[in-house]
Formats: sequence, structure tokens, C-alpha cells
Amino acid sequence: MKDAAPQTIYLKDYTPPSYLVDSVHLTFRLSPEHTRVVSRIEFRPNPEAANRDFFLHGEELRLHSARINGAEVTPQMTLEGLTCEVPDAPFVWESDVEISPVANTALEGLYISNGMYSTQCEAQGFRKITYYPDRPDVMATFTVRIESDLPVLLSNGNPVAQGDGFAEWHDPWPKPAYLFALVAGDLINHPDTFTTKSGKDVELNIWVRPGDEDKCAFGMEALKKSMKWDEDVYGREYDLDIFNIVAVDDFNMGAMENKGLNIFNSSCVLASPETSTDANFERIEAIIAHEYFHNWTGNRITCRDWFQLCLKEGLTVFRDSQFTSDMRSAPVKRIEDVIALRGRQFREDNGPLAHPVRPDSFVEINNFYTATVYEKGAELIGMLKTLVGDADYAKALDLYFDRHDGDAATIEDWLKVFEDTTGRDLTQFKRWYEQAGTPRLSVSEAFEDGTYTLTFKQDTLPTPGQDHKDPRVIPIAVGLLNPNGDEVVPTTILEMTGAEQSFRFEGLAAKPVPSILRDFSAPVILQRESSDQERAFLLAHDTDPFNKWEAGRALARSGLIAMIRDGAAPDTGHLDALQAVVRDDTLDPAFRALAIGLPSQDDLAQTLVNLGEVPDPMAIWQAVEVLKQTIAQHMQDLLPRIYAQYQVDDAYRADADQAGARALANAALALISRVDGGAQAQAQYDKADNMTQQLAALGCLIGANKGDKAVQAFYEQWRHDRLVIDKWFSLQIAYSDPDHAAEIARALTDHPDFTMKNPNRFRATLGALAGHPAGFHHASGAGYALLTDWLLKLDPINPQTTARMCSAFETWKRYDADRQSMILAQLDRILGQQGLSRDTTEMITRIRSA
Ligand code: PHE
Ligand code: ZN
Repeated sequence: MKDAAPQTIYLKDYTPPSYLVDSVHLTFRLSPEHTRVVSRIEFRPNPEAANRDFFLHGEELRLHSARINGAEVTPQMTLEGLTCEVPDAPFVWESDVEISPVANTALEGLYISNGMYSTQCEAQGFRKITYYPDRPDVMATFTVRIESDLPVLLSNGNPVAQGDGFAEWHDPWPKPAYLFALVAGDLINHPDTFTTKSGKDVELNIWVRPGDEDKCAFGMEALKKSMKWDEDVYGREYDLDIFNIVAVDDFNMGAMENKGLNIFNSSCVLASPETSTDANFERIEAIIAHEYFHNWTGNRITCRDWFQLCLKEGLTVFRDSQFTSDMRSAPVKRIEDVIALRGRQFREDNGPLAHPVRPDSFVEINNFYTATVYEKGAELIGMLKTLVGDADYAKALDLYFDRHDGDAATIEDWLKVFEDTTGRDLTQFKRWYEQAGTPRLSVSEAFEDGTYTLTFKQDTLPTPGQDHKDPRVIPIAVGLLNPNGDEVVPTTILEMTGAEQSFRFEGLAAKPVPSILRDFSAPVILQRESSDQERAFLLAHDTDPFNKWEAGRALARSGLIAMIRDGAAPDTGHLDALQAVVRDDTLDPAFRALAIGLPSQDDLAQTLVNLGEVPDPMAIWQAVEVLKQTIAQHMQDLLPRIYAQYQVDDAYRADADQAGARALANAALALISRVDGGAQAQAQYDKADNMTQQLAALGCLIGANKGDKAVQAFYEQWRHDRLVIDKWFSLQIAYSDPDHAAEIARALTDHPDFTMKNPNRFRATLGALAGHPAGFHHASGAGYALLTDWLLKLDPINPQTTARMCSAFETWKRYDADRQSMILAQLDRILGQQGLSRDTTEMITRIRSA
């Protein structure tokens, strides 16, 4: 069956399902090319429905037979499923369909990865398994029988029977089809147990392919910590006898929260000190927590429809950030989150792909698993918490779980629990969910007779389909310092509701220095005329760690912008202020490592655009290089001392303390390598016994043009380990000079270990190129052409990963006419491909219409 013509789906058109499902029985007879799926589904008319039209989704299915109440029927096939005459009373639907897992390269539905069967059903993959009302507001209990010779057969819920060549599972909690999962393979488990706070024993397993069993221990600890944390902080207990996690090599996303059977991209669960960096460990801990937390925020309470995606994702990202803050360092986590938010979400929100946190229309829902839905969605929860306070946030969440357990809920439901808890009217707050674009917040100040006045103005640029924006409620956390650097007004939340609004602070002896938007209290662009002197003052004295870091970042940014725009020399005033922080042993080393980092090249490009300039990616790259070189020379005495002081002698631990020390030492090493020709990096490489140290050294060596031998040796050492080889692919591109980045990436696509069928490998290669602005946007156009070649090759195989990667082009309007026309030509080349997927068509069309 051909794809239906791309159709836009609107939130306003939502109607309740005509039929509800009470229970689902599925039997799978697994076979690579001819899997049979036999279903028995109990339907009943939905009293709330407007009509009695019976429709079941189904794609790429071969229907062998269908029955209603035992009698054979002949359904009418449609482009996206089937319809059938059905009784106006409860009835039983049975069908027998055939599917081919081995032909499924899109990694959606039931597929085979490295010899194991695995499923991915969110958002609309279940319809590639059997005919079903594949929408999240249809919730049912599932009983699953798997027939196969493979030794390990898993599905959702609790095991009920097992024998020679079969296993049966029953999930007592009603769930939407997108949470269905099945895994079958020759797998090994890493077992453990957890006792819940009410004393129930839960069996835990991490299932992996033979050879990976030594990479499960960290993930298991993370799981147990997550289970405990959700009991302690949110009062949420686990609700099945067993919790399984499976690692799969071929996976489009990070991981999936299927009820009782989480499926993970192997890169997001497997970890060992030898093969994983500190950053990998932190991320794995966060993703395990994220998927586990979905059990309550996503599974027990799910989404009514896909427009409500942020209901589960924004809240769950917020929860996993809280968890990481509690396990590690809260300020460091906040800074990392804001770097990611600005790098991905602000970029999205200020380009052609901008959309509200709760979109009101889509063509392909897979294209809306975005930084806006996830990360901005999480920021909205954080703002709500700031506005109502911690105690009322906790009460509102209790009410949410009480009131909506078992529901498919909406953002309206979510906001209502806060309104009912606090008596607040959240009508204005709701604009955050409905209006796209990042608000710009400008500030002016006045001081008279001991009264200090801050006046804020907010505005948001038009975004696609939304020209007019109404003012939003913005929680602005402010503290004031006196000229000696003492805090005279501690952090205070100003609640801005108007387009323009003033706030007064009285009884001050002298004009204070304001610290505005502490802890990044709202996802806005703060526009404040400020001097480098004041920034250096805040970098030295601010008591808010986020704003202390932010002051250093602003200093670096203003210095870099002057270098790029006016050919200015690097500002040594900035360097002295920075050096004071790097040297300050009372500060967390992880914080100092972040402070020494520079704004990304993409950030600088956007800053130039905001100043009305056309950014030159090469000039940006050069300015960053010059500044790093200058810092390396300026701090020549300090850096080797720091490097030596923060070497870790203890056995490797993936905790925040050790990771922070390594981060600072390796930040120093990167600079040292610019003056010592890579000698220190080579020494570190030679003796490294963990991946953090080895990879940091390798990056320095490549950057110093001394990497050839180490690159070769690294490959020989790790060629058997796919996750490490992914790093090998991306690092060579990330550290290449802009003139050669595309050529290096192209050569790597010829490497025998390159395969586009594995999304991790594809991203490690083409994604690394897209993440190298000066290489990707090289004036030759080679970067654009190479990425396009591969997007065109991948699209017929895996539309979802292709479409996600199209966002590499989302910034095209920033650049000069030559680059714009080169990009346009590539976008048109993509759109011209016969049979282009709905996913990629939607993405390119939206990007192009900018
Ligand atoms: N729901 C998953 C998560 O956030 C992400 C995901 C979406 C995975 C779609 C696969 C497909 O945790
Ligand atoms: Zn999620």
C-alpha cells in the first residue's frame, strides 16, 4: 500500500475514540521474514464518542483472516488501516497478520537488530505489528504469548507461563499501544532486586548480548537509585513484580519507557570505565532515571493525544534533572542544562522549525520529539515550581497522581491541578505552552534616593504561523550586590506579567550591581547593556553559581564578538578574571572546568545575527582558535599546576567528584597542548586506563596535528567495541580543521566499519560533521553536499533518523547569499527525490519555507 498524501493533523480536531478496548491478547510466532501476529481484542462502544465508525490502524501488514465474535469478516482496506461493519455492542475482534521483521530497517514496529527481535512502538509503531486503534487514549490490559526457539522471550508486565519454545506475559495495568514491547534473543541478564517502601520485592534485570555483561553494573545502580529517589521525593512506588531493561544496538532514539520493559539504545545503558567517559556515565544515569520515572509520568498517567507529548516528556525531563542535581552537583547540572537548552532549543525556537511546547498541528509526529517539547517543556515545569513554591508544587503533584492515575490526560488537566491546589489563575502561564519563540527580556535600571528600580520589557519575534505574541508571566530571580561585592538583597522572585514592568528595591545605601535571572529562572534571552567591568565583578562575587558562570560566559562572548567584528585583540582583562576563577581552589573543579569553556561557535553565530550581522563561520572558528591560543599562553604557569593538582590517583569512580577533577585537568590539558605540541597529551594517552583520559588525550593530539599514530592505535585497540568505535568516528571529524572536515567525514563513510543501518554510527559520522559549524558551512559547499548525499541514501531505509538530521540546515537563513543558495539547492535536491518519506518531506518543507 502506498503512503497516503501527507495530511496535517490538528489538535482542535480531536475527538474521542468510537470504541474502547478492554483487553488485548496477542500471540507472536516469531520468524525473521514471516512473523505471525494473532490478536484477540475486546472492544466496546465508547459512550462518549460522537459516532460509531470502526477504524483500525495498520501499515505494512498482510492480513490473513479477520473475525468478529467468531465469524469471518472481510474488512475494507484504507490507506492507513481498515474499516469494518461492527455490532453496536461489545464484541471480540480477532485477526491473523503476517509481518517481516527482517525487512524493517525503519526501526519502528517489530524489527531485528544483531539477531535479536525488538520493538519500538512510540509514537505510531504498533500499527506496523497488528491492526489496532493506535492512539494513546485507548488503554487496555495486554496478555502476550511469544513462540520462538530463542532462549529469552520478554514482554510487558509480569511473567505468567514459560516452557519449551514459548513464554507468556500479562500486564495488569491498562496502557496505550505505544507502550507495548517485545524482545526475543540470545541474551544474558545482569540481575538484582529492589524492595519497595511498602516491602514488595521487585526483580530487576538488564539484558544484553553476550560480551556486554561486564557493562551493566553501573546502569543497575542507577536504576536502584532512581527507584529509591522516586519513592523519597515524589512518593512513587514501582507497581509490577519485575522490571526489565534491554540494550539494543540499532535504535533511533535514546531509550523507551515501555511498561516494565524499557528498551535502550545500547549507548545509553552500557558502561564501563575502560569504554565510557564521565560524560557517558552521567548521561546513562540520567536516561535510566528518565525512563524509570516515566512509569508514573507517562505510563500510569499518559497523554490523551500526541499534541500533549510535553505532558509526559517535559515533566519527566524535569524530574530526571532534579534527580541528577541530587545525585551530583545542582549548579553544574543547571549550567549543563542551560548550555544544551541554548544550543539546541533556542536555535530551534529562533528558526523555521519553531513550534509551541504543545504544538497545534503536525504532519509526522516523529518530527516533534524536539528540544522544544522536551527541554523547554521541562523549563516550564521549573517555572511553575518557582512561581508556586516547593510546598505547593509537591501538593499539586500529589493531586495530579491522585486525580489522574489511569488517565490519558491533557495540559489543561495538568494546569488545573495547580490552579486547584494554589487558587492561582494560570491562564497567562498557559501561553508558554501555546506560543512558540524565545521571549527577549530587556532591562534598564535607575537609582535615586536609595531606591533602585529595574524595568523589564518582554517581546517575542514572530514564528512560523504565529505573528502576534501576548506577554507571558516570567519569574525573574534577582539578587543585588553592593559595590564591595556583598549581597545586599538575596535572591527574590519578581513575577513579571506585563509587556513592560518595573520593580523597586528600597533602602539601599549605594547603587547595587544586579544579578538577574539567577539559576536561569526562565527560558528567555536576557538583553542587558552591561560593561565588561561589571561582568568581571559578577564573575568574582556573585553568590549564584549559575550567574557567576554566566558572567564569565558573557565576558568571553563579548571579547570574541569584538575579535570577529572588529578584528580586536583578545581581551586580557577577561583572561585575568577567568584565571582568578580557575585558580580558586574553594570552587568546585567541575564548575571551574565549565567556566574555562568558551561559548559554542553556533552560539557566536546567533549572537552576531542578533546584532544584525551576517556570521562568517570561518571567522568565528579562527577567533575561537586565537582566543584559546591566547588563554593557553596567558595561563602558561597556572595550567600545568592545575593539571598536576587534579590528577586522580584513586581507582576510577564515575562519581561527580572524580569526574569534576578529570574535567578540570582535561580542560587544562587541551590548553597545554596548544603550547607544548601535544607532549603532555601523548603521555596521558600512553598511560590512560579509562576512556575519559584516553579520549581527552586523543582529542588534544588530533587538535595538535599529532594524532595519526594514536588514531590508528585507538582503532586497533577498540575495533571489537562498536560504542567506542562510534567515538572514534566522531572525534576525527569534531577535531578536524574546517578545510578538511567534509573530506575526513567522506573518507570515513568509505571505512568498512561505516554503516548507515546503525543510527549511532550514522550520527557519529554525519552528525559530527553537522556539529562542526566551520566545516559543515565551509564555503566550498562540500559539507552541505555530503550531508545531503547521505540523507538521500538513508531516507528510504530509515526516515525517522533522516528527518531528525535535517535540522542541520535549520540555521540557513543566518548565512550569506552564497551559502543560502548552496543550501537551497541541496534542500531542493532532497525534496526532488522520488518517494521521499513523509518525515523528511515535512522537515525540509518547513525549513525551506523560512
Ligand atoms: N519516549 C522516549 C523517551 O523520551 C523517547 C522515544 C520517542 C523513543 C520515540 C523512541 C521513539 O524517553
Ligand atoms: Zn521521555
